[in-house]
Amino acid sequence: MRKKIVAGNWKMNKTFDEAQALVSEVVNMVQDEVNNDTEVVICPSFPFLSSVSKAINGNAKIQVGAQNCHQNESGAYTGEVSAGMLKSVGVSYVILGHSERRQYFQEDNQLLEAKVKAVLKQGLKPIFCIGESLEEREQDLTFKVLESQLKEGLFHVSNEEFAQVVIAYEPIWAIGTGKTATSQQAQEVHAFIREQIARNYDAQAAADTTILYGGSANPGNAKELFSQPDIDGGLIGGASLKSRDFVDIIKSF
Ligand code: 13P
Repeated sequence: MRKKIVAGNWKMNKTFDEAQALVSEVVNMVQDEVNNDTEVVICPSFPFLSSVSKAINGNAKIQVGAQNCHQNESGAYTGEVSAGMLKSVGVSYVILGHSERRQYFQEDNQLLEAKVKAVLKQGLKPIFCIGESLEEREQDLTFKVLESQLKEGLFHVSNEEFAQVVIAYEPIWAIGTGKTATSQQAQEVHAFIREQIARNYDAQAAADTTILYGGSANPGNAKELFSQPDIDGGLIGGASLKSRDFVDIIKSF
């Protein structure tokens, strides 16, 4: 049985005090209000990982995720953070291949292949993001783009390693735009992704993989999205910065 996950990607937002306030609100609200078995992942910026991890300590429902990491284990890479460092401060998930990393930091599938390896080597779980641009969708290239992102960036890992992977489908045109994919559009793509997993691994791996939707998800549309058979949760940007909205999304299952 695959897990249901709602992950909050805080991106480059919040100061230390704001991050502390937000995480404690989320922890309390999850404790008081969430009865379902959804796993919650909070992904703050690097400087707050340790304190966010401490704030949720002991709450089995909530995990900490990082938004990126470097592909090498250690060394002279000024300004970078390794998977081992993340692990040492209580991180269990790492978002990789977010479209903002691909677009603004020139991360390509080859680099992501190395990052996926580095994360898995530490026993952490990658949340591997894929998604097409509006132009690609309009040119009917969606499936082609997603297929190569999966093949080149992710499908090199072994069956055993693949069991640790979460995939997030984030259509670039839906991120931060208020323009959500319809539940049908998202379902169609999620089913396609599951089919690719079955083809490259096996039917069991396809059935067991958690596939998240991301892109302008909010408390108003989460229920409809999460009711689709191949949508196992969300990767939430803007709405994860407000505890009420984020927890309402978690309660949408
Ligand atoms: P928004 O929810 O703000 O559209 O962001 C989605 C996203 O990029 C999560 O990683």
